[in-house]
Amino acid sequence: MDRRQFMRQSSLAAAAGFTGSMTMVDKAEALESVMVEGLEREVALPWYCNVTRQGNNMGDPNKLKMMGDDPRLPQMPENPSLEDYFELRFGANMGAQHLLQSAKLAADAGLSEKVVLACLLHDIAVLTMPRHDHGYWAAQLIEPYVDEEVSWAVRHHQALRFFPDPDFDYEYPQSYIKLFGEDYQVPPYIEQAAEYATKHKWYGTARHICVNDLYAFDPEKKIEISEFADLIGRNFRQPSEGLGFDRSPVAHMWRTMIWPNSYL
Ligand SMILES: [Fe+2]
Ligand SMILES: [Fe+2]
Repeated sequence: MDRRQFMRQSSLAAAAGFTGSMTMVDKAEALESVMVEGLEREVALPWYCNVTRQGNNMGDPNKLKMMGDDPRLPQMPENPSLEDYFELRFGANMGAQHLLQSAKLAADAGLSEKVVLACLLHDIAVLTMPRHDHGYWAAQLIEPYVDEEVSWAVRHHQALRFFPDPDFDYEYPQSYIKLFGEDYQVPPYIEQAAEYATKHKWYGTARHICVNDLYAFDPEKKIEISEFADLIGRNFRQPSEGLGFDRSPVAHMWRTMIWPNSYL
């Protein structure tokens, strides 16, 4: 069954169960559970997500497992570009908009193309990989395709965002107090990474990511990735085979975004 047909059938089935008292969130959850039930193949959770450590994580032994295309996700082209990942995997959600708004802020502030690109890519791992250490994951994803300064900055925004710098008008984010509590302390490796980064020649590039990060969550704004086409063309080495198929050391990470629910 193709994706459009699958989505139409799922929407109809879910809508049949909607009641007047359901909120948008209730309806979205109902649709999601209909979609999971409607899949011909079972999706297995990664082992490390199994918090109970019970069972063999194999699911229903009588059901085939998901391999390749997941009909719930948009189909990716055979030769995907960074822009395709933005549009089809990072989502038209707040996640992708956060990156786009952050890059726009940096561009409007007249910062260098390296800073703008670093802002554009700084949180791609939050949207596609395990969230932990997202700056390190993102840096690794882009390393073969960008100037070393860009991936260095993306890697170190992970640590620097926890430390204020009055020279850049950067304070500890209030949102972190809300998210992690008043008494949250970063682990020692983050402290050491921030100390190292502060003394580095590219410190400013990484710090600019933090500065342009804080104000890039405007639900009213809608920025398109096409605005950055020229900048990407000049600063991101798109492989001719497509991201995920160029045999680089990180190609498998991009392929995992194409087929995130494959069993193996
Ligand atoms: Fe981040
Ligand atoms: Fe961010």
